[in-house]
Amino acid sequence: MRIKEILQSDPCETPITAKGWVKTKRDSKNVCFLEVTDGSTMKGLQVIIDKSGAVPEETLHRAATGASVSCIGLLSESPAKGQKVEMQASSLEIVGTVPTEDYPLQKKRHSFEFLRDIAHLRPRTNTFGAVARVRNAMSFAIHSFFQERGFLYVHTPIITGSDTEGAGQMFQVTTLDMENLPRNEEGRTDYGKDFFGSKTHMTVSGQLQVENYCCALGDVYTFGPTFRAENSNTTRHLAEFWMIEPEMAFCELEGNMELAEDFIKYILKYVLEHCAEDMDFFNQWVLKGVKDTLQEVIDKPFQHMTYTDAIAELTKANDRFDFKASWGCDLQTEHERYLTEEVCQGPVIVTDYPKDIKAFYMKLNDDGKTVRAMDVLVPRLGEIIGGSQREENLEKLQARMAQMDLDESEYWWYLELRRFGTVPHSGFGLGFERLIQYVTGLQNIRDVIPFPRTVKNIDF
Ligand code: 4AD
Ligand code: MG
Repeated sequence: MRIKEILQSDPCETPITAKGWVKTKRDSKNVCFLEVTDGSTMKGLQVIIDKSGAVPEETLHRAATGASVSCIGLLSESPAKGQKVEMQASSLEIVGTVPTEDYPLQKKRHSFEFLRDIAHLRPRTNTFGAVARVRNAMSFAIHSFFQERGFLYVHTPIITGSDTEGAGQMFQVTTLDMENLPRNEEGRTDYGKDFFGSKTHMTVSGQLQVENYCCALGDVYTFGPTFRAENSNTTRHLAEFWMIEPEMAFCELEGNMELAEDFIKYILKYVLEHCAEDMDFFNQWVLKGVKDTLQEVIDKPFQHMTYTDAIAELTKANDRFDFKASWGCDLQTEHERYLTEEVCQGPVIVTDYPKDIKAFYMKLNDDGKTVRAMDVLVPRLGEIIGGSQREENLEKLQARMAQMDLDESEYWWYLELRRFGTVPHSGFGLGFERLIQYVTGLQNIRDVIPFPRTVKNIDF
């Protein structure tokens, strides 16, 4: 039985076995108290061992913090507050090793910085155990949300020849010998000799491929790892992160915004319901009041604002920004946070951005200047979703690509969708780690993914 299950059981007359790791140990004259955890829940099982009983003193001595143990005993009603049962152990066995004296995890609060340096051990702490359980629950909720609505899960490739966002921030994939590169007649690297016969990268988004499935199967989504070689050392950027990207056929920007709002609310509701103990922990120790904030987001409709209106708000407050806002500029995190924290005091969906600061595939508005883009901004973080209605008109799309110096030959298969039975379609990408940050209140994105990959950081 997992400890979560044991803690919900009634006292019983037949002995049960619990296996886990000693979290804390307390000794009195006649008895020894162990708190044993196995990761299934934050709270451990209280195990009580009679010192004059069958457990050898030597074993009790070795059962220190971090030791892996197997305990057998009866469950009795617990006199302690906050737990239904405890175990009166008749047997205690040390399974495997006992941590040596240099075990870095002590019974005290460690800083997140320190824990990042021991990322292999941090899942043993309360915070990282809770993050792992919440991350798991959110992944499940994401699939439930889409599956309940009839969306198909499509596995888009990780290695790709095209740059979805057109920003060039990609990791290259090659089997060429870097010390001895083959050259073509012009003296440049001959990618014809590379594994795939052309230059390839790790994907920045599964969107272009998922659009192909959307234009055949209707509502689809992809959920997988994505990679960005952005040189930004911030609390919200990872080089490897997970993205959820739904794509809907016969759907315009309005339907897309509706889905994004329903989606976020569904996930928040699911976590509050299914991870109550972990959320109480975050609420108390990580960000006071985070639970109320999430409930408020669930209860209120999201606000909407065009980019042009957003710029009007921002220019009124320009004296408080490092980067002064004006029409045409890309929104900085400070701008996004001002809009959502001060102006809207809750999530806001900003639409119709200037075409020059957005990707080539977004549908051009009639004004010829803006595109049908939508970013969802939330307090504390700024952007967590980026999406749009897609340009389904072939000539307009080709014109955009030419303006942006994109090589049509790399996207020929994407362009063909516009020639063979195109429909209005829309989708978005949600940064999974950003949503976990929002839910848990954790400030640094490095703390919501098991093994973060960031600039100059690839240990573990
Ligand atoms: O706005 P982005 O770049 O949009 C796309 O990739 C589109 N192809 C999505 C689509 O329409 N299907 O990225 C989407 C989201 C961002 O809003 C952000 O939450 C997250 O992905 N994101 C990152 N998260 C962590 N680290 C990074 N370096 C991120 N870059 C983007
Ligand atoms: Mg974006």
